[in-house]
Order: sequence, then structure tokens, then C-alpha cells
Amino acid sequence: MRVAATADLHYSAQAPGILKDQLARVRDEADVLIIAGDLTNYGRPDEMEPLINVLVRLRVPVIAVLGNHDCESGQEAELARMMRAEGIKVLDGTGYERDNVGFAGTKGFLGGFGRGVLTAFGEPEVKAFVKASIDEALKLERAMAQLRTERRVVVLHYAPIATTVEGEAREIFPYLGNSRFAEIADRHGANLIVHGHAHHGSPNGKTTAGIPVHNVAITLLQAQNPSSAYRLFDI
Ligand SMILES: [Fe+2]
Ligand SMILES: [Fe+2]
Repeated sequence: MRVAATADLHYSAQAPGILKDQLARVRDEADVLIIAGDLTNYGRPDEMEPLINVLVRLRVPVIAVLGNHDCESGQEAELARMMRAEGIKVLDGTGYERDNVGFAGTKGFLGGFGRGVLTAFGEPEVKAFVKASIDEALKLERAMAQLRTERRVVVLHYAPIATTVEGEAREIFPYLGNSRFAEIADRHGANLIVHGHAHHGSPNGKTTAGIPVHNVAITLLQAQNPSSAYRLFDI
């Protein structure tokens, strides 16, 4: 299967028309398009609506997870409803199988990597934050457990490893992702993990168990090639 993946479109009615043309090529190049979160800038339905118009015209199946920007207005449920109404597969702790490839997706969360992962100790606010990351990680666990396919793709918004956020300021690494999600993918097995969020991170990395991880934030893709709106993978 040819998989196209992008993230961080931060779409609004003012989005440049050229993006539409760049995305339109996907139907000749891929069998599915993944959008790994931050579809909109402020999470408003009036930003999602023009993007959905673009996506339905692509005539390829679209698989998406929401990002933190899509949560900004507290209307993430409405955004997901709008997308699902047009046939877009919005993964939120859920799996989706197509042509013997399984997709498991959820937004992911922040909280740091490796030895730097924040743990539930001390103030209730810290415990609540860590609980949110663990709850979100359990959603990925549930999504992966649903898949019956041999080939699997994990879709996240936040980074699951530190390597693909390299390039961003070190000080903000803990806000760019959380390695609990990589541990879960390693436990269940996957062929590919894609994520976004770290707009100025690095494109390629691997989990401890060797699963390829790619940051497909459109800013990164276009830094390498200004006309590419997605990256292609063979699964
Ligand atoms: Fe973003
Ligand atoms: Fe983000």
C-alpha cells in the first residue's frame, strides 16, 4: 500500500490556494492520505469546513488524528463529527483496517522522553497531567489491540521519540511528545509511526525496538521540497 502522510496543515479559509494543488496530486501517488493532527489553527469549525471541502475532492481515503490546535476552541468533538460525516476516518484511540493494513491512531500527549518522562509524584496538578498522558497512552494500547492485520501504521500528533523533535529548542522537548507511546508501539509491533507537532524537528528516527518514526509536519516537508505537501511510504 502506498501511504501519503502529512501533518500541521493549520488550515483556515485564508490558507494559500497552492496547498490545494499540492494536495491534489495525492490521488495519483497514494492509496490513502494520513493527516497527523493540527488540521486547523484554532480548532474552529469555520477552519475545518474549507479543509473538508479540499479533502473530499482528493478522492482518496483520508485517515486523521486531531492535534492540540484542533482542541484550542473546545470544539474537537464537533470537528471530528464534521469529518466523519464526510467519510474521513478520525482515529481517537481506535483502529481502522483497509486492504490488510491496520491504522491505530490517537492524538498522543506531551510529558517528555526516556528518563525525562514526567511521573505522577507530588502535587495533584502534576498527577492530573501525568494521568492525562497515561489515559491517552491507554487509548493507543486499545487501538493497537483492535488491529488484526500483520502490517500496522501508528498515527500520532505528538512525537513518541526525541530524535524526531531534534532541531527544536531543547527547552521545549518535553512539550513536544512523550515516549510512553513508543513503548506501546514497540510492545504491539508496527511497521511505521508518523507524527507531527514538532514543526522544526527532524524527519527520521526509530523506536528502541527499531520501528521507523517519521515527523511529517508540513513545515519540515516543505523545508526540504517547497512543493511537497505530504511524504510517501510503502507499507
Ligand atoms: Fe502544529
Ligand atoms: Fe501541534
